[in-house]
Amino acid sequence: MELKKYPEPCLFEPAEEIGEPDDEVRELAASMFEIMYASRGIGLAAPQVGVSRRLIVINLGAAPGQGDEIALVNPEFVERSRDVVEDEEGCLSLPGLTGVVPRWRSVVVQGLDLKGGEVEIRADGLLARVLQHETDHLEGVLFIDKLGPVDRAAVKPKLREMKAKAR
Ligand code: CO
Repeated sequence: MELKKYPEPCLFEPAEEIGEPDDEVRELAASMFEIMYASRGIGLAAPQVGVSRRLIVINLGAAPGQGDEIALVNPEFVERSRDVVEDEEGCLSLPGLTGVVPRWRSVVVQGLDLKGGEVEIRADGLLARVLQHETDHLEGVLFIDKLGPVDRAAVKPKLREMKAKAR
């Protein structure tokens, strides 16, 4: 299993709902944490390792043993703030690119943990942002799809370069 980078097709496909989390899903989550830590990332979604299923992992500490590990199956937003915050974002599948993305200031997300238990997370700040970024991946949406015109123009040459290199 490896990190998939733009423009791999798996990054643009909606991911499939997971039934009861089984050993395969737990192993997938473990591999995703490993790959995320190897790249010093704070969040990763299953499509980013080529698996089109609805699983995200997050650790704001970016290293094992630091910060809390969150693995969320079938995440769904059940509440969100009315106001949005703009801040800079990047993505492990788009190395070297950043841009300002508007996100809801706070969210409540529901899903399953790796044992199949129901979880609800109330988040604001960076965690709210990462939850939205990773859940977007499950819809085949990348942060570059949400940039304003100036940032969008700025990332264009690099995207073209990545596409050319992948050919
Ligand atoms: Co990402």
